[in-house]
Amino acid sequence: MGKDVIIACDFNSKKEVLSFLDKFEGRKPFVKIGMELFYAEGPAIVKEIKERGHKIFLDLKLCDIPNTVKKSMAVLSGLDVDMTNLHASGTIAMMEAALEGLTRPDGTRPLLIAVTQLTSTSEERMREDLLIDRPLDEVVMHYASNAKKAGLDGVVCSPREAEKVHNRCGKEFLTVTPGVRFADGDIGDQVRVMTPADAKAIGSDYIVVGRPITAAADPVAAYNRCVAEFVD
Ligand code: C5P
Repeated sequence: MGKDVIIACDFNSKKEVLSFLDKFEGRKPFVKIGMELFYAEGPAIVKEIKERGHKIFLDLKLCDIPNTVKKSMAVLSGLDVDMTNLHASGTIAMMEAALEGLTRPDGTRPLLIAVTQLTSTSEERMREDLLIDRPLDEVVMHYASNAKKAGLDGVVCSPREAEKVHNRCGKEFLTVTPGVRFADGDIGDQVRVMTPADAKAIGSDYIVVGRPITAAADPVAAYNRCVAEFVD
């Protein structure tokens, strides 16, 4: 799979997401469906968007005992998504079980990527709440290595970490990076942002873009601008 722009469809109803996607008459964007939409509308929304010709990243961030994750991943794989994810903190055994569950009888499977530490977790909270005493950076890289050891395809990370992850885990190990903003756009609540062009230069494999596209006056033009900067 080559570089692509994934639109974070953070809507909470089928009506909203489908009327948003109706605007795209040419190239069908790769779409991220998160917990909000999935819990509101159930698996049917995944099938419906898939049938419209979109690739889907199902962002449900699984984390549970290996057996439960394995069985749940088998269900998600059956929805024919293209990419899904889990928390690396669930251990290497859990990630291996997830891969097993995700693999279809014909040997194919969706891409599986790991969340390392959530970007909402600071080093201080990690130390005080989670009793993890190492620097945040080291924890993120260690979790990325664990994901690689377990056979996963990549991690979600900040575009600023993409280069380091590639150096540590190899060029083929995918970096899926949110926190993307246009040079002349609002950054909103994101703190460490990068433009699509810079994310491309630094080696991100997929950028996840939400509000710069979903809240734009012309979402199709904003999407095309992302594609022009990041893919073409
Ligand atoms: O609207 P915006 O472009 O900020 O959306 C980014 C998307 O990526 C959201 O769905 C957000 O939950 C997700 N995300 C993120 N930072 C992470 C992981 C996921 O912004 N570290």
